[in-house]
Amino acid sequence: MPASLIPQTTEFQRELLGWYRHHRRALPWRDAPSLYKTVVSEFMLQQTQVKTVLPYLARWLEIFPDFAALAAATEEQVVKNWEGLGYYTRARNLHKLARALVALPAPPRTREAWLELPGIGPYTSAAITSISFGAPAAVVDGNVVRILTRLTADATAFRDSAAASKALAPLADALLNRAEPGDHNQAMMELGATVCHRRSPLCTVCPVRPFCAASRRGEPEFYPRLAPKQIEQIAVSRLWCRQRGKLLLHRTSGDARRLANLYELPTPEHAGLDAGSFGDAAPILKKKRGITRFAITESIYAVAAAQLPRGAAGRPGLVWVTLDELATITLSGPHRRWVTELLAAPP
Ligand code: ADE
Repeated sequence: MPASLIPQTTEFQRELLGWYRHHRRALPWRDAPSLYKTVVSEFMLQQTQVKTVLPYLARWLEIFPDFAALAAATEEQVVKNWEGLGYYTRARNLHKLARALVALPAPPRTREAWLELPGIGPYTSAAITSISFGAPAAVVDGNVVRILTRLTADATAFRDSAAASKALAPLADALLNRAEPGDHNQAMMELGATVCHRRSPLCTVCPVRPFCAASRRGEPEFYPRLAPKQIEQIAVSRLWCRQRGKLLLHRTSGDARRLANLYELPTPEHAGLDAGSFGDAAPILKKKRGITRFAITESIYAVAAAQLPRGAAGRPGLVWVTLDELATITLSGPHRRWVTELLAAPP
């Protein structure tokens, strides 16, 4: 723990909070806050930027205005309204959480009790209980890691962001404003998002610059030191198969990792074809995308229905979907874009 910061903790907290109250963005979970809005927004904001979340959150609050409405919804409705946000496990966990909460006489108020609930981890438990109940729990996410390592010029080489969060939790706790933990936590997130950028941080307007060792040394961008992500390249083939106004899709049945009822273009294996069936053929579309530490190249190949093996249509999860039905089912975000692109300019 950096001894130099601790005696100045009260000044640090005061500057941070004063800045936050003047400069914070007006965000829907901050105006007229409620436990429900806080929970939904914190789930959506994990792995997704504020500007992407805003339209989803507005629609979500209209369709599922409270925990009871969400708990009463089917998984299919929940998934449909998450379409495009990605990382669908969050939607399933949020749904499970709503069902767990409505079964209780009242929502718990401590971090420890929230940690027992579905889908709740160290970050969400601290964010929700500090913001909604004033619990003395400090959040540590990527933004906070960046701020804390810079404040203390902590040059530890962390294995990854999770290891850094764990190592920095005691410092985050020591700096927490126990009178205003919710605003303090949101101020740290806000500072990370709007001032203490990963590249070219805006140190000249930073309210806590006098406390920042990295800024004093003139090298804020050096921190945090995180091992570069080991990116794994993956190649996936997908089928584009149309017949009599229908498109062949694969529907997930849902397992520990993925939600049920999420549709995607099928892989050759889904249709009983060899993974290498398209060795020399040119794909009709080739797309790259990144998910966590995977760089995925997806090649989409046109196949005629007659080329599918016998009984392909009866294989688990394979379905023919009419173009009208496409609007009502949930396609994962990238697949929605590719299908739209291919329908607009058929191969
Ligand atoms: N990111 C995660 N939670 C947030 C919040 N409450 N405000 C702004 N950004 C966030």
